[in-house]
Amino acid sequence: MLDRFLARQFARPHGPAGQLLLGPLLDRVGRPMMDAAFAALAAHAGERVLDLGFGGGHLSRRLLAAGTRVVGVDHAPAMVARARRRHRAALREGRAIFLEGAAEALPLGGSAVDCAASVNTIYFWPEPAAVFAELRRVLAPGGRLVLAFQTPGSVRAWPGHVHGFRAHAAEAVEAALGAAGLAPVLRATARARTVGDYVLLVALRDGR
Ligand SMILES: C[S@@+](CC[C@H](N)C(=O)[O-])C[C@H]1O[C@@H](n2cnc3c(N)ncnc32)[C@H](O)[C@@H]1O
Repeated sequence: MLDRFLARQFARPHGPAGQLLLGPLLDRVGRPMMDAAFAALAAHAGERVLDLGFGGGHLSRRLLAAGTRVVGVDHAPAMVARARRRHRAALREGRAIFLEGAAEALPLGGSAVDCAASVNTIYFWPEPAAVFAELRRVLAPGGRLVLAFQTPGSVRAWPGHVHGFRAHAAEAVEAALGAAGLAPVLRATARARTVGDYVLLVALRDGR
């Protein structure tokens, strides 16, 4: 019962729990992966960075603190409202924008961002290939993409995964990225107490 509730909240935080509890919970659980994604992005001040499925927003906060321009997209209205409340100044100054939208149909124009990251989100995408096509479209030529996700073993170690989580092997994700015009250039695995083993992938959008 609790597992199913949490699995649905992780996929799309909603309701009073989504508004009050999920942001801090996601930030605590996913912090090591978001910190690793932040380091792998190595985004420069002024670069436009997409944080896809930003959830509690720890990664967006770090990116803003580093002087980048953050474009956050999440399909959960509760998370979008929370991010807008927490980043009023950055929104006012035009350094951030938080949009409600789906990974499969990003609410952005072509070449809208210099780099993109998506942490702990791929489990919820029915068709990762469709999302990769969208990411290629919105990334500028040569733009970098960082994905971080738990290994299939770690996904399956939590009984709640049966409620809608899809586990992905790093090799299959790399193949799908390559097919979408996002060339994988780095793969690392790491372990964190809160999430177990996870994969970090970096890919570069082709120059066409
Ligand atoms: C498990 S949380 C991860 C949040 C954050 N990136 C982290 O690592 O803590 C997944 C987030 O992705 C969002 N999400 C899931 N599927 C999505 C989709 N297809 N399009 C946009 N956002 C999605 C959810 O609403 C949620 O905020």
